[in-house]
Amino acid sequence: MIGDKKILFSGMQATGNLTLGNYLGALKNWVTLSDEYECFYSVVDLHSITVRQDPAELRKRARNLLTLYIAAGLDPEKNCLYYQSHVSGHAELAWILNCFTYMGELNRMTQFKDKAAKHTDNINAGLYTYPVLMAADILLYQADVVPVGKDQMQHLEICRDIAQRFNSVYGDVFTIPEGYLGKSGAKIMSLQDPEKKMSKSDENANASIYLMDDPDTIIRKFKRAVTDSDACVQYRDEQPGIKNLIDIYCACTNKTPDEAVKEFAGTGYGDFKLAVGESVVGVLKPVQERFDELSKDKTYIDKIIHDNAEKANYYALKTLRKVQKKVGFPERPRI
Ligand code: TYM
Repeated sequence: MIGDKKILFSGMQATGNLTLGNYLGALKNWVTLSDEYECFYSVVDLHSITVRQDPAELRKRARNLLTLYIAAGLDPEKNCLYYQSHVSGHAELAWILNCFTYMGELNRMTQFKDKAAKHTDNINAGLYTYPVLMAADILLYQADVVPVGKDQMQHLEICRDIAQRFNSVYGDVFTIPEGYLGKSGAKIMSLQDPEKKMSKSDENANASIYLMDDPDTIIRKFKRAVTDSDACVQYRDEQPGIKNLIDIYCACTNKTPDEAVKEFAGTGYGDFKLAVGESVVGVLKPVQERFDELSKDKTYIDKIIHDNAEKANYYALKTLRKVQKKVGFPERPRI
């Protein structure tokens, strides 16, 4: 707890172009939860270098992502928005937690298997221990709740296991975090292959809606979305393309799938797709406009980066020092 509030942690990678999946699966829920919790939202740049990055590009994307957090509605005075690389406690705790994580557990991580298959020329140890760094992120702030999309739930489970293992040896050091999935949008699928997750790294640009896509592009991509020949808007597994479009529509309008199905009963796919596209434009356009405005204000963004790095470090160090003492590291001299 910080004051009378429970603690929330989440993060996002500044790699590739963010998609509608990132927004509906994570960022949108972050904004909803931000009043209720004391929130830490990190731009996880340490995670990004598990895949080769162009340094100038990574720096630019990281800043854009932090700006986007604000543009999406997170108040930087109330929420701690910061770069993971500005708080060395993440890497230090990750090392300690590495010593409490079994290779057998890491071998089971599906994201590692997927990424290793994709980047065969660079299967590095960072990619392998990625979930341990993620556990360090969460545990460093004693987070109670972690809002993520479905694809990150396995990482959250291993984080809980590591924390429980550590606590069973040293007493109640870490809060055991709970995952939080939004009512809709926890797994947005590709518009071109609804069996596959919508992903930043998809080679087919029509498969993903990028957060910075202009309205015409968004509508065009929805018009081209792969559906089926049933010609009936229903929410069922046998129609994965339509089901995905309903999920997107519901996440953008806060309606339930039942309401959406009723609304589009008897409507052709063409009109339905257009309505989904328009609901997405309605959600993304204000974010894009605010992003453009904020990007111009360098001094304001710089101040947020400075102040929030300080705040994050303060809370991170509290946990880190406790952990270091527990595992038996000698007391630090004042330097
Ligand atoms: P990342 O950057 O891949 O994704 C950021 C968030 O977006 C969600 N997401 C989706 N949700 C619904 N549908 C989709 N198609 C979709 N694609 C992505 C992800 O689930 C995630 O919530 N490892 C994390 C970042 C991270 C983190 C953490 C998260 C690092 N440390 C600690 C929570 C707590 C990642 O790569 O997310």
